[in-house]
Amino acid sequence: MYPLRRNRRLRANSSIRNLVRETTITPNDFLVPLFVVEGKGVREEIASMPDYYRLSLDNLEKEVKELWNMGLCAVLLFVKVPDNLKDNFGKEALNANGLMQLAIKTVKNACPDMLVMTDVALDPYSIYGHDGIIESGKVLNDESAEFLAKMSVSHALAGADFVAPSDMMDGRIQIIRESLETEGLLDTGIMSYSAKYASAFYGPFRDALDSAPVDMVDIPKDKKTYQMDFANREEAIRETRMDIEEGADIVMVKPGLCYLDIVRDIKNTFDVPVAVYQVSGEYAMLKAAAEKGWLDHDAVMMEQITAIKRAGANIIASYFAKDVVKLIG
Ligand code: PBG
Repeated sequence: MYPLRRNRRLRANSSIRNLVRETTITPNDFLVPLFVVEGKGVREEIASMPDYYRLSLDNLEKEVKELWNMGLCAVLLFVKVPDNLKDNFGKEALNANGLMQLAIKTVKNACPDMLVMTDVALDPYSIYGHDGIIESGKVLNDESAEFLAKMSVSHALAGADFVAPSDMMDGRIQIIRESLETEGLLDTGIMSYSAKYASAFYGPFRDALDSAPVDMVDIPKDKKTYQMDFANREEAIRETRMDIEEGADIVMVKPGLCYLDIVRDIKNTFDVPVAVYQVSGEYAMLKAAAEKGWLDHDAVMMEQITAIKRAGANIIASYFAKDVVKLIG
């Protein structure tokens, strides 16, 4: 007896495959991470992130115009802070004329409708390379969260549409939300890095910003006391639930590919948009393998991005955004 159902009928040619495809990638799926540095005319390639650059403000302006013309409508800003402006408390982060604040204004001037999200954490500003303030060998929770709320207000006043706290301190979404409300910044969104794992995939990013935890006595060597243990799944639900209750508009899972089970759990459990960050190490791995001729760059890139969306991502922060949009035309 031949099969009553022949599933291959729906795969027989590209027209039928196009018709029944469940997941399609468009420019609207992407949030483009951008690294900003001081100076003029700077466009430095990041050693561990081939074809990805740190940009000074003038080049940032050019870049966002290009992104906008490609149909990419949202950016996530990071700054590389010079060593002489770093301290334990991230004081420079509150400078109304600091690099982040100027970067926000640069993007908004160049492309008023470009959605601007900003990274909120202390690490690029910290002499110790940690996301919070350090005392007696510990990353302080409440003091750090209070500082991050001030930082969020500063970004919002400079024109950021969304702040994106990436620090994993407890209770920070609530204090950020309360501070924004108190300042009358009612329309500023919060995209919370809700399930952010202590991951070795962040290596190239820390090179890009020179923001890795320093190797010093009494300074934690890693971020495991605040970022999540990658062995845990239920904890991601708990973290995400709290962030939504505290006022997050969008929640995020990070990194991407190794955590798609978490993405689907969160998608099935909550009813807010879910973002996924395909991080620097994921980018570096594919670039390196493609450089060696071991993987087909574009094919693997599309497979990975599609997998992230299929798992439940409404928004994908990815260094491949431009590559993908060029490919899909
Ligand atoms: C800072 C921050 C990190 C990333 C985004 N925001 C690094 C870290 O937590 O150490 C990683 C992004 C990437 O690897 O692409 N808190």
